[in-house]
Amino acid sequence: SIVILDFGSQFTRLIARRFRELGAYSVILPGTTPMERILEQNPLGVVLSGGPSSVYDEGAPHPDPRLLESDLPILGVCYGMQFLAQQAGGTVERVGKREYGKAELTRYGGRLFQGVSGEFVAWMSHSDSVTSLPGGYEVVAATEDTPVAAIENVERRRFGMQFHPEVVHTPKGIRLLENFLEVCGAARDWTPQHIVDELIESVRAQVGSGRVLLAISGGVDSSTLGLLLARAIGEQLTAVFIDHGLLRLGEREQVESALRPLGVNLVTVDASEQFLSALAGVSDPEQKRKIIGREFIRAFDREAEKYGPFEFLAQGTLYPDVIESAGGEGAANIKSHHNVGGLPEDLQYKLVEPFRYLFKDEVREVAALLGLPEAIRMRHPFPGPGLAIRILGEVTREKLDILQRVDDLFISGLREFGLYDQVWQALAVLTPIQSVGVMGDYRTYGYTAALRAVTSIDGMTAEFARLPYEFLETVSNRIVNQVHEINRVVYDVTSKPPATIEWE
Ligand code: XMP
Repeated sequence: SIVILDFGSQFTRLIARRFRELGAYSVILPGTTPMERILEQNPLGVVLSGGPSSVYDEGAPHPDPRLLESDLPILGVCYGMQFLAQQAGGTVERVGKREYGKAELTRYGGRLFQGVSGEFVAWMSHSDSVTSLPGGYEVVAATEDTPVAAIENVERRRFGMQFHPEVVHTPKGIRLLENFLEVCGAARDWTPQHIVDELIESVRAQVGSGRVLLAISGGVDSSTLGLLLARAIGEQLTAVFIDHGLLRLGEREQVESALRPLGVNLVTVDASEQFLSALAGVSDPEQKRKIIGREFIRAFDREAEKYGPFEFLAQGTLYPDVIESAGGEGAANIKSHHNVGGLPEDLQYKLVEPFRYLFKDEVREVAALLGLPEAIRMRHPFPGPGLAIRILGEVTREKLDILQRVDDLFISGLREFGLYDQVWQALAVLTPIQSVGVMGDYRTYGYTAALRAVTSIDGMTAEFARLPYEFLETVSNRIVNQVHEINRVVYDVTSKPPATIEWE
């Protein structure tokens, strides 16, 4: 594998993703990881990431000195390059202004630039620079402001880049990473099929003949996990899908018909009565969430009891969740994730988390290979509390029924117009606002539905999607004509921040 030592750059994960896109398995470890643990990964090469520190600061994080004495190829990016240079006897200083943004290389060459031609735009983000070069190293690239933009010591297979080859703003950067893989002699066999085979093997090795419980939410992660576990351990798996009654129209049936034919031992439970009576009379958003979380655990425990005992609990934890909470040294401490309704932390089960080292797009590729239908595989995110946080105020069966029909018209419309995959998430909200309308010759007094669609990378920030007016017109007509309780449709044109994506 390629080991990426993380010194705190916001781009570290991107480096790992790029290598994987190139078919090479890569893992991220904290920057100060001891050599023994690095070697456990059977590294063929090591990347030192960027980071916020200055190499000359007291207490700046350093990799294990034994790494630098080893014969492993090393690529230092930004802080990583400065560290390589300084450690080999060069000088790193804060010179003049901080360079941030796109810069064109005025010259480039050397081993990692092999096969690159034409203009080379590099993304810079640094305030320190290498000002004198250590022995054995050569400058192989420069920009107007940064005379030392890339260095190499070919003999020792040590390379440094002041810019970030992993970001999209360095369009030809992927080629440099590919060349580094070549220098490392890294295999390029990290394919979805390879991932599936390895995951199946590791699940079998972990659980043996033990029984495994899995909560299915209907999203891509838990559904894919269900398929994987069914392949790996067949009937030792019991997958439980709690229908809390707050789902989209036809969602339970969709999940059942996707998973059962592929051999997933799936139990579905209609717990809508339990959830709705617990929610009766409650209109505070946070309280609704809490109640749903609590009832989910109750319902899940009940099923676990009924079909148990189970030795293992499977969870669709992804790599970003694990890295995010990696507490520096030692084992990563996993944050409590909320894949479904949020499970308690004091579980009596051992955890099975086969996707711990996968990114979301890798899970989607695995899903395709395992036969998960496109409609689930490419689905928008859907919150655990479901439609309850899209009905402002109290949740009732009647309101759920109205919102399900509105939502269905909106979402199927997006698919029909080829817009579904262009937005990150889309949802309908049932507001308590009633207003006057006219249909035929009659006065109406009905509810207002709000539609929201956003573009986003990760849901942390979002912009409202610029949906075409013709589409909005069609959908608005359909909703008002087919859902009689609604006589007005509005489109939410707020971004996040200041608004959130969900209305509650
Ligand atoms: P907000 O509304 O905070 O949503 O901008 C960001 C993303 O998180 C989802 N979301 C939730 N997911 N439980 C979940 O599992 C929740 O309580 C919850 N609240 C919001 C939301 O759908 C969006 O994708």
